[in-house]
Amino acid sequence: MQRFDPVLRQDKVDLDLISLLNTLNTACKEISFRLSQGALAGILGSTTDENIQGETQKKLDVISNDLIKEILLESGLVRAIASEEEDTIVAGSPDGRFLVCFDPLDGSSNIDINSLVGTIFSIMEVPEGMQGANEEMFLQPGTAQVAAGYALYGASTQLALTTGQGVHLFTLDNTIGEFVLTTDKMTICEDTQEFAINMSNQRFWQPAMQQYINDLLAGDTGTRNKNFNMRWIAAMVGDVHRVLTRGGIFTYPSDNRNPNKPYKLRLMYEANPMSFLVEQAGGLSSTGYERIMEIEPTEIHQRVAVILGSKNEVETCLGYHK
Ligand code: F6P
Repeated sequence: MQRFDPVLRQDKVDLDLISLLNTLNTACKEISFRLSQGALAGILGSTTDENIQGETQKKLDVISNDLIKEILLESGLVRAIASEEEDTIVAGSPDGRFLVCFDPLDGSSNIDINSLVGTIFSIMEVPEGMQGANEEMFLQPGTAQVAAGYALYGASTQLALTTGQGVHLFTLDNTIGEFVLTTDKMTICEDTQEFAINMSNQRFWQPAMQQYINDLLAGDTGTRNKNFNMRWIAAMVGDVHRVLTRGGIFTYPSDNRNPNKPYKLRLMYEANPMSFLVEQAGGLSSTGYERIMEIEPTEIHQRVAVILGSKNEVETCLGYHK
């Protein structure tokens, strides 16, 4: 049995990073426990507050955010954090080496129906010579990430992690309170017959995405000449986990529902960490026009279009965007 051990997941041992990953895994275990208590602990439902994105915060969004924030800021390793649930960055230790971006509870509309949710995190280093803590130091492309991962709170709690040496999947063994390695190298198959998209937005997509999905729906009667199945969990963490597990294409494309908000997913704490994982597992991740991990961010809560998953299927989809 291989317990959670990020040492084995790095080509050179970085004790600070290992310690930070252990800190994050402790927070995820605590969130997993809180979620398992559900209605018994009276923590389901919404608060009266909204986050910076204008979304009503769930009680568990706030609890998860506070848990992760506190444990990271007390670690001594973190210069600052950026969270979906915080308007601005929050400063930590003045000599901390790392910057952590996170979505404390992705898919939180699933909380009240006892369905899949997860925590997504992305770790970067403070650029050399930068003092203090400011938003500017976070504005690095996804290629600067030194680690990324997510915890998925499902029938079992799992933690997917990359430090740039492939993707490793751990499962929480509640009998010992530890994450145990259950898949050493996750690999996304290159071809797929499964897609994930919120079909209710179809009329708002750009023509390229309309055409691509129409061709998937036409199945073996259309140009693709094969049938496709559709899945939508409404939590990116769940949909990406399925893609990592058995392949598929997941997309949240741009749409014109609200001209001021053409994209839904957040670059720094959703798209970048998931892109790092997907690429490390042999998949592709793009906006339709550029590699997500190469985007130069302009602000921490920036949103972006996302198309990721099985290599050949993503390439086919990108062909429609040329
Ligand atoms: O971050 C937002 C999020 O909850 C993602 O996890 C998920 O993919 C998406 O929103 C679901 O959006 P919709 O409400 O369109 O189903």
